[in-house]
Amino acid sequence: MKFKTLLMFVMFGLLLTSVACAQAEEEEALPPDAEDSAFVNTNAKDDSQGVQEGSWEGFCVLNLANSASAELLKEVVHSWPAKQIFETRIGRDKIAGTADDRPFETLKELDAVRYVGFITFSQLKRYAAANGFCPAIGEETLVAGEQRLAEQVAERSAQLVIEKFESEGFARRDAHPKSHGCVKAHIDIDNRALSPEERIGLFASNQSYPAWIRFSNGSPLIQVDNQRDVRGMAIKVMEVEGDKVLERHRDEQTQDFLLINGSAFFVKTPADYLQFTKKALDGSPVSFFLSLDPREWRLRELYNLLSIVGKKPSSPITQYWSTTPYALGEGRAVKYSARPCGEFASGWPKNPGADFLHDSLADALRSDDACFNFMVQRQVHAGGTPIEDSTVNWDDTDSPFLKVATIRIPSQSFDSPEHEAFCEDLSFNPWHTLPEHRPLGNINRTRRVVYDLISDLRHTLNDSPPSEPRSHAF
Ligand code: HEM
Repeated sequence: MKFKTLLMFVMFGLLLTSVACAQAEEEEALPPDAEDSAFVNTNAKDDSQGVQEGSWEGFCVLNLANSASAELLKEVVHSWPAKQIFETRIGRDKIAGTADDRPFETLKELDAVRYVGFITFSQLKRYAAANGFCPAIGEETLVAGEQRLAEQVAERSAQLVIEKFESEGFARRDAHPKSHGCVKAHIDIDNRALSPEERIGLFASNQSYPAWIRFSNGSPLIQVDNQRDVRGMAIKVMEVEGDKVLERHRDEQTQDFLLINGSAFFVKTPADYLQFTKKALDGSPVSFFLSLDPREWRLRELYNLLSIVGKKPSSPITQYWSTTPYALGEGRAVKYSARPCGEFASGWPKNPGADFLHDSLADALRSDDACFNFMVQRQVHAGGTPIEDSTVNWDDTDSPFLKVATIRIPSQSFDSPEHEAFCEDLSFNPWHTLPEHRPLGNINRTRRVVYDLISDLRHTLNDSPPSEPRSHAF
């Protein structure tokens, strides 16, 4: 009896010890941030805890969280938050580099991930700073899988060009097919606002260059001008000497600038571009921005698009921006804008004709010249003026636009059939450029794959080899 009691006592003791051990093991396995202590500082006046959205250190952390592999994340932080960060980022299909990837846009989103708190954030911050995840001014961050996504964007665009060619017998641009006119222009460089190091490439000296400008609507459909749409201004500067970036256009003498009438783009990544075009083709573009799951809403993108299509320019002579950044030599980046020299009117006419944007341009240039100031806006820090996110508007109170050229458009007519055919045949491409003005960021890298292919395709289908103009003659 005594022995039995002793045995039960020992067994009970062993049981208690093993439960305690299991608890201890579990506790040990818990990440330090199991309590989910927040790190984002919501009180702007209190710098003692957490960080501010949009700060430099926060930007580096987001960059690391958005680009690190699952293995790297596990090396940097505890495996539990690492797994949660990675799985949240790669989306429902659980594959990185696919269309449903959802990179963290704000620290708040990262903070909301399970097991991510102050300690995880500090670990990410330390690693990001020491291992090159804080990009310098003008520095790009390549994301795994983006080349494949760019190819998918190009394939989709090519497919659409071919489909339309089959029904219309003529191949047009996949985007911006409707032109309001191509006009002869002159660009007079005025580099006084630039520092000596910034006076490079096209801005090296105060020269005057001939140029062509094509004004357009953005929609892949050719539609009446009072449909809400993005408007484009594509500038081709000629007689620009020096090797160009693209191997096959190395010896061309053209330098292109592509602008639209909004200061920030409405698509952040090539994966998003694929999704957006798919939803737009299915007739439900809004579902790209707003879905049933509020965690997947793209509010900034929606705001950007609505601000652009909400504008009602009465004429193509309105303000345009590049939205995407461009190098200005090494270690410097800028965005571009072209703004009419004087006041410019907006508001659609009372009884708008189908092509009133063409008509108002033709009217304006019938007896008068037109003029734009061409400006650059410097990237001032990689947080608030990012390279990789073209949906972020670079605030002009942080970095004002500086005039670097005047664009003169002399009075002219531009409606002859030969003129229109020449205009249709032109190809504008942000990669038709001197290396000093190399396009930057993931949207521009995508465009490197798309534009040349689409231009080639439409020229091949139309049996009209592409060529770059060398003067105002055609
Ligand atoms: C991944 C993003 C983008 C894709 C896939 C894309 C695609 C295209 C394509 C296929 C064309 C027609 C090219 C041709 O046939 O010659 C085009 C034209 C154009 N794009 Fe984009 N685009 C993108 C982003 C942008 C951005 C950010 C801007 C902002 C400035 C822009 C402005 C323009 C303009 C103004 C044109 C008309 C050029 C002309 O007049 O010939 N695009 N785009």
